[in-house]
Amino acid sequence: MPTPHAVVNAEGLDSRQRGDFARDGFLVIRDFAPPADRARLIARAGALIDAVPEAELAAIFTTTRQGETTDRYFLESGDQVRFFLEEGAVDGAGRLRVPKARAINKIGHALHDLDPVFAAFSRDRRLAAMARDLGLADPRLLQSMVICKPPAIGGEVVCHQDATFLYTDPISVIGFWFALEDATIGNGCLWAIPGGHHLGLKRRFKRAGAGVAFDEMDAPPWPPHEVPVEAPAGTLVLLHGLLPHRSGPNLSARSRLAYSLHVIDGRAHYPADNWLQRATPVTGF
Ligand code: FE2
Repeated sequence: MPTPHAVVNAEGLDSRQRGDFARDGFLVIRDFAPPADRARLIARAGALIDAVPEAELAAIFTTTRQGETTDRYFLESGDQVRFFLEEGAVDGAGRLRVPKARAINKIGHALHDLDPVFAAFSRDRRLAAMARDLGLADPRLLQSMVICKPPAIGGEVVCHQDATFLYTDPISVIGFWFALEDATIGNGCLWAIPGGHHLGLKRRFKRAGAGVAFDEMDAPPWPPHEVPVEAPAGTLVLLHGLLPHRSGPNLSARSRLAYSLHVIDGRAHYPADNWLQRATPVTGF
């Protein structure tokens, strides 16, 4: 079981941390985000959710041509701040089954550009130093999400590699995953397959016609040896883009809010059929 490391400073990662990341495909750094920062981000996420009209939210997910509407809402979210609902949050009559604050699965995907609170948190010298130390010569902030994982209804995220969704050639994406609240086995923490990033990319998600599709690659199956990555509030988990990871459902009474930021190397090729396309440039720290 990988050991959590202490707080990182603006000098970046030491050789032991870099070695652990290279071996495991992830690295746990405790106490990265102090309580005041977490409180600011949590309050901001709450305010964003408060501001979106409930009827508008429900409408996006309940039109008769639901697949098409939902696809477009998702595909055009790369340079927007949009809201995605938990499965089953809307009833047959187009109403939310649960209060709005507990119906949101995630907010994405350009908080780091468009929202001043999340932008300030994301553009941190320590993160820039870590990206550099993990091999990104020209780090660019591609995508960000608040993952709400609300109590009782928070859905699982099945095992995947981030490079499936945020593909570059060569693969470069690194995930910065911040626990804004305690993430435990009970409320749906991350699970990872240590070393699984050595096994290559399994599939690639891309645009196809008006919708999306997966390209399946010829990669070996993932071993079943996964470990829970429990993360006290404030913890930063760094994730290699090829690391297989997932998170469980939240059936508990405690929410599990996280913020995740994905950074790619500006030197790598970014395909025109990646699902995430932006009208505005992808900038650095
Ligand atoms: Fe992921």
